[in-house]
Amino acid sequence: MDKSKTRPQALQPIKRPRLEAPTMAIRGPIPNGPMHPRPLIALLDGRDCSVEMPILKDVATVAFCDAQSTTEIHEKVLNEAVGALMWHTITLTKEDLEKFKNLRVIVRIGSGYDNVDTKAAGEFGIAVCNVPGYGVEEVADTTVCLILNLYRRTYWLANMVREGKKINGPEQLRDAAQGSARIRGDTLGIVGLGRVGSAVALRAKVFGFNVIFYDPYLPDGVEKSLGITRVYTLQDLLFQSDCVTLHCSLNEHNHHLINDYTIKQMRPGAFLINTARGGLVDEHALAAALKDGRIRAAALDVHENEPFVLAQSPLKDAPNLICTPHSAFYSEQSLTELREMAAGEIRRAIVGRIPDSLRNCVNKEYFTNAAGVRYPPFPGYPGPDGMNGGFSFPNPAAAAAAAAGLVVHSTTMDAHPAVSHSTPHSTPHSTHVDSGSHMAKAESSEVH
Ligand SMILES: NC(=O)c1ccc[n+]([C@@H]2O[C@H](COP(=O)([O-])OP(=O)(O)OC[C@H]3O[C@@H](n4cnc5c(N)ncnc54)[C@H](O)[C@@H]3O)[C@@H](O)[C@H]2O)c1
Repeated sequence: MDKSKTRPQALQPIKRPRLEAPTMAIRGPIPNGPMHPRPLIALLDGRDCSVEMPILKDVATVAFCDAQSTTEIHEKVLNEAVGALMWHTITLTKEDLEKFKNLRVIVRIGSGYDNVDTKAAGEFGIAVCNVPGYGVEEVADTTVCLILNLYRRTYWLANMVREGKKINGPEQLRDAAQGSARIRGDTLGIVGLGRVGSAVALRAKVFGFNVIFYDPYLPDGVEKSLGITRVYTLQDLLFQSDCVTLHCSLNEHNHHLINDYTIKQMRPGAFLINTARGGLVDEHALAAALKDGRIRAAALDVHENEPFVLAQSPLKDAPNLICTPHSAFYSEQSLTELREMAAGEIRRAIVGRIPDSLRNCVNKEYFTNAAGVRYPPFPGYPGPDGMNGGFSFPNPAAAAAAAAGLVVHSTTMDAHPAVSHSTPHSTPHSTHVDSGSHMAKAESSEVH
């Protein structure tokens, strides 16, 4: 008797869709375990591994390179490293990636990954991951702080006091605080309602803002969850907003989203805040708009050229401007969280399977899962078909199962439980530096 016919329905094998040519990802899993030497993980552009080490030391050897380019990276790392951690101070082009003979995974310690050629990495079979969730609260809080400063002019008033200006009586106060405005009832326009944009929306409501947003990549209904208003064109948002705050990712479609033309669509005397990416704003156009008052005041945490030097920027003479040095994400806690999350992703790559075990792989479409099914592109991919909710990437296996009326339980991704942030890593590790070479190596003293 054919046993499969008697199986309850939920146990029937899932029919998986046939795939076109599988993956170009040619590198296999990271060899690890008692039979293998411990894999080498390298921090490319930094020295401090004190947060990462406790998370990785029982499964890997960790080295740091402190390099600004791949020409400064030790040959041993180029030949043997299977994993790389990187900040934003090194760039990995196709030619750079080619030099790494064994690399399987790169984790950007941060959310932006525009300094890695993710396509070339995918073609070489190297998974690229980012850490998108850290510092969301800090960026949202900083954004609100900047919005409040523009409305209440706190930054300028405090500077007047510091400079010794004496403000005596209501007339002088009116002159000094000229431009201070009431928030309640004003419309705040959020461009990009992702993690940070939503966090800003929640905060802004409490101050009495009427919150609207524009984000063409989100499905209908998110406005209902947050109790805010959605508009479907950037023009509508700019036209309706007293204050515009940018929270979209920078991609090839939105460079200089705020430019001469779109500034003319803004309300005369509106405020502008950018804590997202410098490339979203044409700084020449903003400087002109601040000078002639079309934009009343602006606050920028991110800049077209970073590290930012005001004196060398088109904004150097612009009035009513607050600039901060791309610091919105920073708090002691968020930095530690970021590094722990990055190290956790590398750990999952070592003890699990690439890319199935990874939480934030941004070039998954170059890989297949354990069942040989090709992954769909990363949801952040700004494809032309993605407008207004048409952009979804169902897991083919889950879609097939759903079509067959089956319930699919998500598989556990961690081969080992994730290292908890609060887990004490008490075992001491020895650290030694390879004198005379550029690579310093820190290694745990025992295998657990
Ligand atoms: N200043 C800092 O320290 C700092 C720190 C972290 C993140 N950031 C930046 O903040 C921004 C938001 O980060 P996040 O984590 O919320 O990202 P996210 O990916 O969660 O959200 C970005 C949103 O922007 C939307 N979007 C993309 N293109 C758009 C467009 N042209 N118009 C409108 N919406 C568009 C996407 O659909 C998405 O919902 C990013 O640019 C990120 O690089 C800055």
